[in-house]
Amino acid sequence: MEKLIIEGRKPLFGNVQISGAKNAALPLIAATLLTGGIHTLTNVPDLRDTRTILRLLESLGITWERQGATLRIDSTNVTYSEASYELVKTMRASVLVLGPLLARLGKAKVSLPGGCAIGARPINFHIKGFEQFGVTCRLEQGYVDAEIDGRMQGCSICFDVPSVTGTENLLMAATLAQGTTIIKNAAREPEIGNLVDMLISMGADIEGRGTDCLMIHGVERLHAAENEIIPDRIETGTYLIAIAATAGAATVTHCNPRHLPSLLDKLRAAGMMVTEMENAITLDATGGGHIKSVDITTMPYPGYPTDLQAQFMALMALSEGVSMVHETIFENRFMHVAELHRMGADITIDGHTSVIKGIGRNGFNGAPVMATDLRASSSLVIAGLAAQGRTEISRIYHLERGYERMVEKLTALGAIVWKEKE
Ligand code: EPU
Repeated sequence: MEKLIIEGRKPLFGNVQISGAKNAALPLIAATLLTGGIHTLTNVPDLRDTRTILRLLESLGITWERQGATLRIDSTNVTYSEASYELVKTMRASVLVLGPLLARLGKAKVSLPGGCAIGARPINFHIKGFEQFGVTCRLEQGYVDAEIDGRMQGCSICFDVPSVTGTENLLMAATLAQGTTIIKNAAREPEIGNLVDMLISMGADIEGRGTDCLMIHGVERLHAAENEIIPDRIETGTYLIAIAATAGAATVTHCNPRHLPSLLDKLRAAGMMVTEMENAITLDATGGGHIKSVDITTMPYPGYPTDLQAQFMALMALSEGVSMVHETIFENRFMHVAELHRMGADITIDGHTSVIKGIGRNGFNGAPVMATDLRASSSLVIAGLAAQGRTEISRIYHLERGYERMVEKLTALGAIVWKEKE
């Protein structure tokens, strides 16, 4: 295992290029299962999670090759329909193969993901949706064994709360169902728009892109196509918060500022100068002012993203006032708090709310800390970059699930950071 070492208190300056979005790449790669042919995906990040889903596709009979950020996936042969526990337990998004396999083969067996570091994260919405299509789902020995005789039947589905991968799974299945499917209270994350665009390019008939009501008119067949993964809005936000926390001034390029409405407002409210361009954002925190305290409440898109909650909390720990973070999406997403305490943060947790008493811009001191999940890890990186002295973050395999070449990118911005064997 490797750990990350940071010598902190170095303001970040310069440019950083954002990679393709992990949470768009995963469903778009899964969507190639829907039909045979050679699919091309561009701007695909090379991450632990994208490698895991490609391993899963290989285990189903698919071949692929990567040249830089371009993936060519040959989905002509799907010879197997089971996603094993070994793969699903390392990445919950493996459940995204369920919809495409059912649509193409009429059967799929996928391990139940089980709990994870940020909450229980059941997949009951996915299963209920498939049953509405006429699929029989049996839960046996930790697996969902799903089967349908003939085509799925279009239906009307309404989510209790919007689910990102739930919407994606049912949307993919609906493209090849018989008749029309309506998905109400659908998630509206930009990654779903990316998937809708890909499905349309493959011949699907979908109305309502970007809204919470998707209408899918099933078609007889789809075909392979070429598509581009959108920029990673969570990686973008993570670098912006890091620039703010280190009192730096830098430009994040190859991103989409329109995908981060809520974060950009909150950064401005915290006193940062944020300039939006077509495909870039500059953040300037060199004005010398204090970081102002700002409250956030995580919400489905376009609300404040839960995947940027831990990072913003690290910034608020360095503010001059008291702020509150309400986490409404996942029940256990405050694992970073205990680690931030080790660096000097003053945070108390009361159920789904954290109360952060700011310790001022220079309040953090480096310490050995442990990464617990992907986004908690990136909040520790931000804290380490702002801290006086050395921070050692162990278990950084979590970070590698979702941040491409982070050490290289931070080094180019002037950070002193490297990896070592634990
Ligand atoms: N939920 C259910 N039942 C379901 C599905 C969801 O109760 O069948 C609940 C969840 O427990 C949660 C809420 O609904 O309370 C929303 O969860 P959602 O299904 O939207 O989450 P997800 O699809 O499993 C995706 C991202 C997560 C991100 C969440 C929320 C991918 C691959 N993962 O997860 O990303 O936090 O949406 O935006 O898209 C990350 O990248 O670090 C990450 C965890």
